Amino acid sequence: MDFLNKIAKEQSQRNQCIMELFDDSERASDFSVCAANLLLDYSKQNINRGELTDLMTWAKKSHLTSKINSMFSGDKVNNTEKRSVLHTILRVPTEIRNEMFGGLSLEIHNAEKQMALIVENVSEGKYKSFTGKTYTDVLAIGIGGSYYGVKVALSALSQYNSTNLKVHLLANVDGRAVANKLEKLDAETTLVVVISKTFTTQETLLNAETVKDWMTGELRSIEAITQQWFAVSSNVEKALAFGLKKDNILPMWDWVGGRFSIWSAVGLPLALAIGNDNFSLFKEGAYEMDKHFQQADFDQNMPVLLAILGIWNRNVLNYSSLAVLPYEHSLRIFPAYLQQIDMESNGKSVSNEGKKISWSTAPIVFGQEGTNGQHAFMQLMHQSKDITPADFIVALRGNSKYKEHHKVLLANCIAQSEALMKGKSLEQAKAEIVSDEKFSLAAHKEMKGNTPSNTILLESISPESVGALMALYEHKIFVQGALWQINSFDQWGVELGKKLSSQVLSLMDNNTETENDMSASSLNLIKAYTQID
Ligand code: F6P
Repeated sequence: MDFLNKIAKEQSQRNQCIMELFDDSERASDFSVCAANLLLDYSKQNINRGELTDLMTWAKKSHLTSKINSMFSGDKVNNTEKRSVLHTILRVPTEIRNEMFGGLSLEIHNAEKQMALIVENVSEGKYKSFTGKTYTDVLAIGIGGSYYGVKVALSALSQYNSTNLKVHLLANVDGRAVANKLEKLDAETTLVVVISKTFTTQETLLNAETVKDWMTGELRSIEAITQQWFAVSSNVEKALAFGLKKDNILPMWDWVGGRFSIWSAVGLPLALAIGNDNFSLFKEGAYEMDKHFQQADFDQNMPVLLAILGIWNRNVLNYSSLAVLPYEHSLRIFPAYLQQIDMESNGKSVSNEGKKISWSTAPIVFGQEGTNGQHAFMQLMHQSKDITPADFIVALRGNSKYKEHHKVLLANCIAQSEALMKGKSLEQAKAEIVSDEKFSLAAHKEMKGNTPSNTILLESISPESVGALMALYEHKIFVQGALWQINSFDQWGVELGKKLSSQVLSLMDNNTETENDMSASSLNLIKAYTQID
């Protein structure tokens, strides 16, 4: 990182205008790359050719190629938990996987077969419920990595739902969330999938217990759980103790991190909605991106470029956030999904060796559907003092019969990236105003511009393109973690809150014996709870 620190110092006085970079007539075509049917246009970034080349050289010198190979070949790159990071092999076609990974490949194949059989039998009505009915609904219970991947893919691919099953997800431990779901469901026709790698996550277990009580109450038999419930977990013992049947427990391997697990049996609720064939296409799209990531030179490598440009913005230009703006309604969950995979992976300040690092890591990721964002937080992006880089994501083809809507959507997307880059000078603002208010209003209409952005174009929303898009960001995050020298695959930061919440719960139950060193603030809040009737 010395290299980055050095250029960050040199660049502190830098006043480069992105628009001027377009004096280079080849910029728009040269600063774009295609892979796995996606196109990344990064020409609106605030970086010139020389700077980009220097970054590539730095990435090479930082042994990025060998770090990429290490991950794909199964080295224990998650060093604090001594685990391999191999979600990518779940996307490799079976024949190739057999050659590369032998015994492990067989294990994966068995899990895939088990999952495909469940999807086939449930969707074709061959697996019946406890009372002999055909399933109509699926309720998947899980949180964090055991939720977001399913959530984003399920909503992105809703037009590809090819079974008659309605899939519902339950993550928040709020009783209202549980009640809302259960009000819609019939215990006789609902299949439940509990997704929890550890099978110890408090929110998931409480939700699962409540749904279990509801179902046993409605069907008056505990046997319903054995028949209608499935689990995806690495803790078979705990899942069995919960009441699940062994055959209904699908594996979650320790070499697949929660937030990268949608490609495993965690994808069961998704496959139950879109069917086995679409689920395979979804993995194929991701595999295309994997191949590109492993094979393309860095200057043509989409995940590497995305990562390096993010590092440039974060560590050289010192921009602390990233707005993710999918214009497609289908991709509306994408910002929330990215928040998890990006910030839970790279929100760290200690190197792999356990040393404090002096550079910043993950930006604050936020966003929502682009056009809605335009009428909300994008005001800040246009006119506050801070620069907020953005990723625009849009498909060329719409996925509804309302063609005009898609044209407007695409126009808005392109216009916003242009507006953020160009801004409006005071002179331009004044020239636009014809009345006497010219001088008082013009200042309000000035827009700073010079905000860098990427635009990612999908040809259309499809299982393959959504798979490729998700894999693109997974790899971007990996590259950034590798260059920041942090472990992107652990999440110790969430542990303290979990531990303290048990203490708080005990105090809320008036258990005065509870040892605690809670602050007066928290004790007061707990007291407020204990005083309500
Ligand atoms: O947020 C912390 C975390 O441990 C994630 O890494 C994980 O995806 C999530 O909680 C849920 O964990 P589990 O799958 O074990 O229930």
